[in-house]
Amino acid sequence: MIEMQDVMKKYGNGTTAIRNITVKIDQGEFVYVVGPSGAGKSTFIKLMYREEKATKGQLNVAGFDLMNIKNRDIPLLRREIGVVFQDYKLLPKKTIYENVAYAMQVIGRKPRDIKKRVMEVLDLVGLKHKVRVFPTELSGGEQQRVAIARAIVNTPKVLIADEPTGNLDPENSWEIMKLLDKINTQGTTVVMATHNAQIVNTIRHRVIAVENGRIIRDQVEGEYGYDV
Ligand SMILES: Nc1ncnc2c1ncn2[C@@H]1O[C@H](COP(=O)(O)OP(=O)(O)OP(=O)(O)O)[C@@H](O)[C@H]1O
Ligand SMILES: [Mg+2]
Repeated sequence: MIEMQDVMKKYGNGTTAIRNITVKIDQGEFVYVVGPSGAGKSTFIKLMYREEKATKGQLNVAGFDLMNIKNRDIPLLRREIGVVFQDYKLLPKKTIYENVAYAMQVIGRKPRDIKKRVMEVLDLVGLKHKVRVFPTELSGGEQQRVAIARAIVNTPKVLIADEPTGNLDPENSWEIMKLLDKINTQGTTVVMATHNAQIVNTIRHRVIAVENGRIIRDQVEGEYGYDV
């Protein structure tokens, strides 16, 4: 699903954020990416959905060769990848329904299909009753659930989340985790960067620890105990 070989990322200002990372993530896996601030977690996942281009190496995601992908094919790659951020990034002038529907409209889906699918994902995240409200009328946890609904509405193969619980209290964080787990159980690969040691140590999955642009540990699910 995601395969990196000797991947390196150097930003325009000379900062090397990723140094020779080789890693493979299979379809259906749930992977945490952990590490201190500035370690390269966000850069690592930005490379996966081509928000940033790797400087060197080989990188394949959902069947696309990201080192040789044509610009016109990038939207096709992005259809296979849902992305969720710490700060939700909902469109403030659109209702909850419109925020989620928009992701289907931009890829030209039929209005009838859109209605059915949007209601289905809003039901999954427990917000069917909030379709007509605006993002500012929702709590942080609810806004993040809308962001997740939007990220999965086009049934991506991979869901990438960069500190999705970063702005949430523990209770809302657990709700988000339950949801991500459910989505993963339904077959979607999940890659999640997080600082939350409690989550990583409670809801156990593979843990990739990044430090100074390198993978310093790759712990399979089931191995006991991890200090984040
Ligand atoms: N657009 C950019 N241009 C230049 N340098 C960048 C850019 N984005 C990140 N960096 C640098 O790359 C390194 C890795 O940053 P990155 O954002 O990937 O870290 P992170 O592990 O996600 O950190 P945090 O936990 O604080 O989110 C840091 O040294 C950072 O300053
Ligand atoms: Mg980050």
